[in-house]
Amino acid sequence: MSYNLLKGKKGIIFGALDENSIAWKTAERVFEEGGKFVLTNAPIAMRMGQINALAEKTESEIIPADATSIEDLENLIEKATEILGGKLDFVLHSIGMSVNVRKNRHYTDENYDFTQKGWDVSALSFHKVCQTLYKKDAMNEWGSIVALTYMAAQRTFPDYNDMADNKAYLESVARSFGYFFGKDKKVRVNTISQSPTPTTAGQGVKGFGGFISYAEKMSPLGNASALDCADYTVSLFSDLTRKVTMQNLFHDGGFSNTGVSNEVIEKFSE
Ligand SMILES: NC(=O)c1ccc[n+]([C@@H]2O[C@H](COP(=O)([O-])OP(=O)(O)OC[C@H]3O[C@@H](n4cnc5c(N)ncnc54)[C@H](O)[C@@H]3O)[C@@H](O)[C@H]2O)c1
Repeated sequence: MSYNLLKGKKGIIFGALDENSIAWKTAERVFEEGGKFVLTNAPIAMRMGQINALAEKTESEIIPADATSIEDLENLIEKATEILGGKLDFVLHSIGMSVNVRKNRHYTDENYDFTQKGWDVSALSFHKVCQTLYKKDAMNEWGSIVALTYMAAQRTFPDYNDMADNKAYLESVARSFGYFFGKDKKVRVNTISQSPTPTTAGQGVKGFGGFISYAEKMSPLGNASALDCADYTVSLFSDLTRKVTMQNLFHDGGFSNTGVSNEVIEKFSE
């Protein structure tokens, strides 16, 4: 169903890798709601080629950018505003990667070069995106910037490794940059704290299968899917949420406020 919530709005969507990606679903939903956008991903991710299908489907152009490179971000924002014919109304940062996780380095045995790289990609890149947009004055008033995060920023999930620290940093950037973007440009900045979701990044976390089932049983409404997340993001890009800013918004079927569920108790009573 389409409500035309984003008619006339323009933006950039980072992080669509394949059709499971949260950013992929978001691009499809934003398109259905009348939004126009440029798609971007790291040059290495483009080589896998799937993003072309999404671009075709959503009538959008692709501009490669490594989100850790200021030069790439400047080029992306310049070209995107040119292609879209003006300033931006929305930006989705849907980027995450931990080298320690990928290389099976335990949290108590981090390789700090890996840690730094993962932090740059997953956390600092959000500051870089915000700062480049800010300096270029590329956002329209009442625009909306959203990044994706996970509750491991507040509570410990042992296998989430250094991504927990990256997400804590990311959420802090949303608050800090949200202040300046709000004051100076009337732009909101928020993070969505999403349920575990079966994507490439999600499935990289050790024990993901057991964990997603546990979260499903712990959430009164069940886990939020990538499509649910896309819908929520559309609402945050729309004019219906103009005073929501500097927030970390839990989108998790109620998981974050549930102590225990009957299903979980039953499992332990067996
Ligand atoms: N899947 C989950 O369980 C879950 C839960 C909560 C939050 N999130 C967050 O959602 C976001 C999107 O992840 P996803 O689950 O859709 O997985 P995904 O693997 O589909 O997306 C991650 C994206 O990050 C991109 N990326 C990596 N390095 C990059 C770089 N240097 N420059 C630009 N892009 C780069 C990848 O190419 C990929 O498109 C991430 O921030 C992730 O942490 C995921």
